Amino acid sequence: MTTTVDAAIDRSRELAASIETHPHRHRMLTGDRPTGDLHIGHYLSSLRNRVALQDEGVESFVLIADYQVITDRDSVGQIKANTLSLLTDYLAAGVDPARSTIFTHSAVPALNQLMLPFLSLVTQTELQRNPTVKDELKASRRPLSGLLLTYPVHQAADILFCKADVVPVGRDQLPHVEQTRVVARRFNARYADGTQVFPEPAALVNDQQLILGLDGHKMSKSRGNVIRLAATAHETAALIRKARTDSEPAITYEPERRPEVANLLNIASGFTGVPPEQLATSLGAGGGSALKELVTEAVNEGLCRHRDRRSTYAVDPAQLREILRVGNAAAAAVADRTLTEVRQVMSMDY
Ligand code: TRP
Repeated sequence: MTTTVDAAIDRSRELAASIETHPHRHRMLTGDRPTGDLHIGHYLSSLRNRVALQDEGVESFVLIADYQVITDRDSVGQIKANTLSLLTDYLAAGVDPARSTIFTHSAVPALNQLMLPFLSLVTQTELQRNPTVKDELKASRRPLSGLLLTYPVHQAADILFCKADVVPVGRDQLPHVEQTRVVARRFNARYADGTQVFPEPAALVNDQQLILGLDGHKMSKSRGNVIRLAATAHETAALIRKARTDSEPAITYEPERRPEVANLLNIASGFTGVPPEQLATSLGAGGGSALKELVTEAVNEGLCRHRDRRSTYAVDPAQLREILRVGNAAAAAVADRTLTEVRQVMSMDY
């Protein structure tokens, strides 16, 4: 597995270089599940990178992966509110619906139909040994559903329907991108006589330090250790005041030995662009309270514009629905074209 990961990371570097010189030759697709409000970890590791790609001129598709909500749970939860909240954060972060197609995959039937031929291209063994499927299965504490087993295949349909070649993701999603490459390759070989109907996409892996919750554990809504993008500056300050640190008076950046302090430094670094070591040196003997002040200011300043825009969109659900309607129609048109092509190469165009 390490060699596959290394190869994916090498590809990611090459891709980043190519995007820099020829942004218009690339098409990006990425997305999130509408399971709850986004937090600063999402902002630092994915949202702002997407906006940067869009602004560089990469054609962009942003997917609200609503069907994926039920891969690992039995109910859709507050899916409507969550979908609108996700969309609000995309817009607030600067995803521009005039330049990026924002859509929900339940509204794009032709995308979902690609799953049928794609399912024929993978084996049960491949799916069962996919590390992301395994992890999610374990965490869900439920029997393996057909949807979870085929998670890599519907994600391949998400990526290939628009023939995206750039997939910005976290490392946990790399196995899906690998599986998508296999699906594309096999489709072209088996059903299209070797013509490149589908490009083999590559992951664009971000190198943002993983941000933990304010108690040093994985961010999770139920632990109450996250700073939501929707939180006010005041709420943010209160949360950071309660963040766990340690009893050593001087601030140093030692991720192994002092993970909570290092995490706070990583957060401040993410928003200010100043390396965490340098922030630690500047704080020195200032201790935990100076650190928390610095982090609060970094987060609140870094999110000021996002939050302003967020509150403007949040009060206009009709506008949000209209943006989604237009994005869904645009995605459906692309998916229809791809499905027509798939039918033609498979001789199913009667
Ligand atoms: N599986 C991703 C997640 O859980 C969301 C997602 C769905 C996605 N389809 C995608 C990400 C396609 C990248 C490309 O976060």
